Amino acid sequence: MKIAIGNDHAAPGLKLAVIEHLKEKGIEYVDTGCGINEKCDYPDAAKAVCGKVLSGECDLGVLICGTGVGMSIAANKIKGIRAACCSEVFSARLTREHNDANVLCFGARVVGEGTALDLVDAFVETEYSGEERHEQRIAKLKALEDI
Ligand code: RB5
Repeated sequence: MKIAIGNDHAAPGLKLAVIEHLKEKGIEYVDTGCGINEKCDYPDAAKAVCGKVLSGECDLGVLICGTGVGMSIAANKIKGIRAACCSEVFSARLTREHNDANVLCFGARVVGEGTALDLVDAFVETEYSGEERHEQRIAKLKALEDI
């Protein structure tokens, strides 16, 4: 398991906390985000992380901005990305299980560090179920990419 992680200027501190957590768990990561006192626009951060997921270099992506919303809008514009903006663990788990989401987004101004780490754990530890009904719905999601 290898995670691509990125952030904008609203979230360098929380990004570093997530990285420390990944290290403790022995999970590989690539940090494409910006550091403290740097400016970075969320569409650029989303593009960098999603590129690593789509190329296969990373299995999943994590994107953190102020709310998580800008990151999820940007990421979901990229073909092949299913990004979920989550602020509680149930959704972070179910979006892997049902939607086969490949990018998790959340907001540094919305969730605290404890919840952020729980979101990442739920997202990384949950497998896509692959059940027929979800396969059919994801096929419909993919069809929307061609509109
Ligand atoms: C940056 O100030 C802020 O707009 C951004 O981090 C994010 O919350 C956008 O959705």
